[in-house]
Parts: sequence; C-alpha cells; structure tokens
Amino acid sequence: MRLVLLGLPGAGKGTQGELVAEKYGIPHISSGSLIREVVASGTGVGREVDSYVRRGELIPDGLAIEMVSERISRADCAQGWILDGFPRTVLQAIALDQRLDQLGLDVQMALDIRITPKAAIQRIAKRRVCSSCGAVYHLEHYRSQDLDVCDNCGGELYRRSDDTEETARNRLQVYMRQTHPVLHYYSMDGRLYSINGQRPIDEVFADLDCFLQRLANSKRVGEAR
Ligand code: AP5
Ligand code: MG
Repeated sequence: MRLVLLGLPGAGKGTQGELVAEKYGIPHISSGSLIREVVASGTGVGREVDSYVRRGELIPDGLAIEMVSERISRADCAQGWILDGFPRTVLQAIALDQRLDQLGLDVQMALDIRITPKAAIQRIAKRRVCSSCGAVYHLEHYRSQDLDVCDNCGGELYRRSDDTEETARNRLQVYMRQTHPVLHYYSMDGRLYSINGQRPIDEVFADLDCFLQRLANSKRVGEAR
C-alpha cells in the first residue's frame, strides 16, 4: 500500500498513521519527524530547517523531496508506506508521482482527515509528545497517567517548539495557502478520500480503514496498479 495522509496541523495524521502502520505492517513516515531528527542533529542543515519550523513555514521543497525520497527508497518500504505531512505542496506531489512512475508505482490513496481550524488550535495547544518513543498525547482527550511521563516507555513528555498558539495559527495559514491545493491535485484523478476527523480516534480509524480494506480487496482482484 502506498498512501498519503493530508489534513490541517493537529488533524490526527500522526495518530492515524501509527494505527495504519500497525495494522498493515507498513512504515509510517512523517516528514515532520524526519525534519525534527535533522534539527536534533545540530548540524548546519538542522539549524537552517529549525528556523522554518519555529516560524511555522515550510522548509524548501528540494530539501523535503530529497529527505522523503531517500527514506522511501530503504528496504523496509518495499511493501509500501504511509506518508504523513508529505506532499505539502503541488510541486512535492508532482515530484513524488514522477519518482514513483519511474519505478512503475503510484500513490494509491490520498486520505484527507478533516477538522475545523478551531479544533486544530485546541488540539495543538494541548499536545504532548514523548521524547523517547514519539508517542502522542493530549492533556484532555488522551492523557498519560502522569502528565510528564510516557505510559509506553517512561520517557519524558515535551511540547513541540512549533506548538505555540502564534506558530500554530501561521501553520494553518500556510496549510490553506500551500497545502490545500494538493487536495485538488489528488481529486483530479479520483485518488482523494475524505474522512471526518472530529470524532474519537477509533471511529476515525474505522472510517479510514474502510477505504483501505477496499483498496486491499481491489488489489487482490488486480484492479490497482
Ligand atoms: P508536521 O510534524 O507534519 O506537523 P503538522 O502537519 O502541522 O501536523 P501535526 O503533527 O501538528 O498534527 P497531526 O495531524 O500529526 O496530529 P496528531 O496526530 O499529532 O510538520 C511540522 C513542520 O515541519 C511544518 O510546519 C514544516 O515546517 C515542516 N514540514 C513537515 N513536512 C514538510 C514538507 N513536506 N515540506 C516542507 N516542510 C515540512 O494529533 C494532534 C493532537 O490531537 C494530539 O494531541 C492527539 O493526541 C490529538 N488527537 C488526535 N486525534 C484526535 C481525535 N480524533 N480526537 C481528539 N484528539 C485527537
Ligand atoms: Mg504529526
């Protein structure tokens, strides 16, 4: 399966991406996480991309395309992947299609998780992430037992540098300006599937999974490429 997840910041792409990865045994690849790893490395490139992330702006297309292309060429991606946060511009979407086309592959579904901007801000303001295993919590909806400690691994929970209200508002504007056109790009040839993201996590996953089961069944009878 080769899937992309779209949706406003805070829509639940990371949360749902993990569930899909677990059920279908494909890697969940978050471009945001790849970028945060580069920032944590403390290199010159890390410092450069950090300045974009802190302002809520997109990093340059060329860099994002290079990072994701390298990641999906690794051996664990042979059976597919679910991309989260990439593509984020039409140029990135075209680059991904071109690269896959050279390999005789394609993006089979673009899954758009829909929430309102108001819900996005509320979710981002109260998100906490484990510094060790990356598990995602919410101070109200999905709390860890101890507010500072991860239930899974005991790691310390932190707030992302771009989760301040000001940066979150800019991220929403950037999404509308630069990423929203990507929905149109995938809708033009029938690859876009929308899901109501404003329900409990398991209900959102159940809807999303209906589409994936349809894809898995169509593959069995040879309909998908
Ligand atoms: P990225 O890390 O991709 O951030 P984002 O798109 O802004 O999305 P988030 O990670 O904030 O939200 P999410 O949809 O994953 O939601 P989550 O599951 O965590 O990108 C960060 C930055 O990196 C960008 O701003 C840019 O600078 C750069 N970047 C990344 N990709 C790039 C690219 N391709 N090109 C250029 N630059 C790029 O959930 C959010 C919260 O809600 C959590 O607390 C969660 O517990 C809670 N929650 C989840 N589901 C539900 C639910 N159903 N009900 C209630 N609460 C829920
Ligand atoms: Mg995320």
